[in-house]
Amino acid sequence: MQKMMWIAGCVVLLAISPIQADQVQLPTTTADFFQPGTQPLPDGFQAFEVSSLSCLNCHQFEDDDNPDEITSPYINYAGSMMAQSARDPVWRAAVSIANQDANGAGEYCIRCHAPMGWGSGRSTTGDLDDLWQPDDTDGIGCSFCHRMVDPIFSAENPAQDADILQALVDAGTYPDPAHPGNGRFIFDPIDDRRGPLDDVGINMHGASQIWHSPHHSEASFCAPCHDLGNPVFTWNEAEQKYDVTSMDAPHPTQDVYHMFPEQRTYSEWLHSDFADTGVYFPDGRFGGNGHPDGVMKSCQDCHMPKTYGANCAFWYLPDIGTRPDIDVHSFAGGNTWVIGAVHDLWDPTYTGLTDDVVNMSMQRTADLLAAASDMDVEQNEAQLDIRVTNWSGHKLPTGMPEGRRMWLNVQYLNSTGDIVEEHGAYDWLTAELDAASTQVWEARLGVSQEVSDLTGVDAGESYHLVLCDQFVIDNRIPPVGFTNAAFEAIGAAPVGATYADGQHWSDTAYEIPAGSETAVVTMYFQTTTKEFMEFLRDANTTDNNGQEAWDAYVARGMSPPVIMDSTTIELDPVTDVPGDINGDGVVGVDDLLILLSQWGPCDGCSADLDGSGDVGVDDLLLLLANFG
Ligand code: HEC
Ligand code: HEC
Ligand code: HEC
Ligand code: HEC
Ligand code: HEC
Repeated sequence: MQKMMWIAGCVVLLAISPIQADQVQLPTTTADFFQPGTQPLPDGFQAFEVSSLSCLNCHQFEDDDNPDEITSPYINYAGSMMAQSARDPVWRAAVSIANQDANGAGEYCIRCHAPMGWGSGRSTTGDLDDLWQPDDTDGIGCSFCHRMVDPIFSAENPAQDADILQALVDAGTYPDPAHPGNGRFIFDPIDDRRGPLDDVGINMHGASQIWHSPHHSEASFCAPCHDLGNPVFTWNEAEQKYDVTSMDAPHPTQDVYHMFPEQRTYSEWLHSDFADTGVYFPDGRFGGNGHPDGVMKSCQDCHMPKTYGANCAFWYLPDIGTRPDIDVHSFAGGNTWVIGAVHDLWDPTYTGLTDDVVNMSMQRTADLLAAASDMDVEQNEAQLDIRVTNWSGHKLPTGMPEGRRMWLNVQYLNSTGDIVEEHGAYDWLTAELDAASTQVWEARLGVSQEVSDLTGVDAGESYHLVLCDQFVIDNRIPPVGFTNAAFEAIGAAPVGATYADGQHWSDTAYEIPAGSETAVVTMYFQTTTKEFMEFLRDANTTDNNGQEAWDAYVARGMSPPVIMDSTTIELDPVTDVPGDINGDGVVGVDDLLILLSQWGPCDGCSADLDGSGDVGVDDLLLLLANFG
């Protein structure tokens, strides 16, 4: 078991200077960001012209005789960040910075965040203005996911997949399934619908065929977008650092694990017990009420919980009907406020974001975050021991390294309920956290001296995402089944923290100050830090995206922290000073009275100051020596 005193885990906040007058843009081209997989406008391409709005005619409805939950794919999807990934103001602000930092980098961002516009050949320069069609802002649309093809051919897959894969092999762009991620998806050039069902009674999709696709129920379906390496860098094993690759050329090995590991959610999952045996949750916290056995394995198990209901507004027709285990397209994660910002900034006719949908989505996110961890608090004499256990399918938190964080807030209260001492105080008006006084879990990236020399960006901790080639810290809590060797191999080893093999929890110890009667311990999650938002606003020299994101962030309450776990415990008096029996910080008459009342043989008594099993003269002398 590893013990981390809070002081050991705390990071010194470095001042990150946003604007560098002498910054030189990295002379990359879109060639540096080239990835295998289906390339834009494949042969025989039928447009993704059917936007999510066309699907809503049938896949949007509220009355499907499940009174407890909305099951409509469209309504649930609309409230997910993936539906809004190209409208997300934080993303748009970050793309502007990426383009400033490395020429054409935005083309890579668009690939994953707006794959329909990208696949339609409308992303050529990396500029967001390339995405001019309204459908492009549908982000990861229904059509996109349901045109995705399994990279590994099997007899259960649609027969035409063999040709689709062969065409990629012939063109030299077949993506190695052992190295997924980086937007290396394969999609059907034809506008057919692939999904998990093999018993659809009636095809209402006109000319579009329905194909049964087991791949849609596998975690590897999510892999192309939920692992992200930066191809501007390649791992130098001899020197144990990342080197900048040659400009205007694809990554030399195209091995995702050689690239700078910006996000490793899929690989974290792949090297956890979830990918292997699965993890059984007797309390049913994940998976929904339609899950067959409560054993969580795939991403879909937790992020598309199953419930009773329908897929189509015409469920009352005999050929369609309801199902006991439909997959809810909620895709809740860690984003507590951006869905609200998208609601505020964009026309609801296109986003599907009514107030109800926003509220439902925010509630689901809060519920998932509460399910993500368990917290145990125990007093150990003058020490408060807190264990936070990660029950998510990957690191906690995972994904986006910039801005996400969790921390412990500990308040010690005296007998009148006043705060004696606080760790991790958060100012709800200024959005500032007293990080130095508590345990924070997070990842922070940095820029090496070498990259600094090349670009003029300050070395050290940095939010210049595409230029970062180091982790300053990554103390995020590993998942069940973690091993150091496996995580090292995927570039996701802990940095600035140690976790033993198998350890999927983190221990923190705090000293209990004298005079405390109660401890209130709260674990908070925050999606976006103020420092990151300030950076996006202040480092932007090209457009208004940073200011727009900042304004949206302020309007939505500056990413209010949400509670993951909270406990109040009554404390046994802490005798810091020998003789301060009631723990009020002074040795006085009250303590003397307690001592006298316990006089005589007394095992474990608070007045047995010398621990002799007897309250007597020695204890009295100790008390008197400290009197005052
Ligand atoms: C991010 C990718 C993604 C997006 C976007 C998406 N889906 Fe799905 N959908 C899936 C996956 C994955 C499954 C299967 C889940 C499983 O089997 O575990 C699924 C299942 C389905 C099913 C079958 C449900 C059942 O009973 O099992 C329907 C119908 C469906 N999707 C329709 C839609 C519609 C309509 C939209 C847009 C409003 C949409 N999907 C958007 C990934 C997506
Ligand atoms: C391989 C696919 C992929 C690529 C390429 C990609 N992203 Fe992302 N991005 C993601 C995923 C997945 C998430 C969600 C992670 C999470 O929520 O923690 C995300 C989240 C984000 C967020 C957080 C948004 C928010 O509201 O908090 C920002 C900002 C972002 N990406 C910026 C970029 C930029 C800038 C680029 C290009 C330099 C880029 N991304 C390229 C997959 C990708
Ligand atoms: C005219 C009505 C209608 C429209 C419009 C419609 N669908 Fe469907 N769709 C259905 C019905 C009915 C089913 C079968 C539901 C069931 O059996 O539970 C279905 C099933 C599906 C499935 C599941 C296929 C499988 O094998 O798992 C997917 C995926 C899907 N639709 C995607 C879409 C997408 C994407 C759009 C928009 C581009 C769309 N649908 C538009 C009626 C429609
Ligand atoms: C056992 C349940 C479980 C499984 C399996 C699981 N997740 Fe999660 N996931 C969670 C929980 C709980 C959270 C919220 C805590 C957090 O943000 O890390 C979460 C959060 C996320 C986030 C948002 C992170 C953030 O802070 O923005 C992404 C993205 C994500 N998961 C993707 C995936 C993918 C992809 C897979 C499969 C490779 C997967 N998850 C498997 C439970 C799970
Ligand atoms: C085409 C790329 C793509 C695919 C495929 C994809 N995702 Fe995502 N996903 C994204 C991007 C991009 C984001 C970030 C959107 C944003 O924050 O603006 C994201 C965000 C998320 C989030 C975070 C939501 C939040 O509130 O923080 C979850 C959870 C998630 N995806 C789950 C899944 C699961 C589960 C699958 C597979 C069934 C999947 N994704 C497939 C690209 C993808």
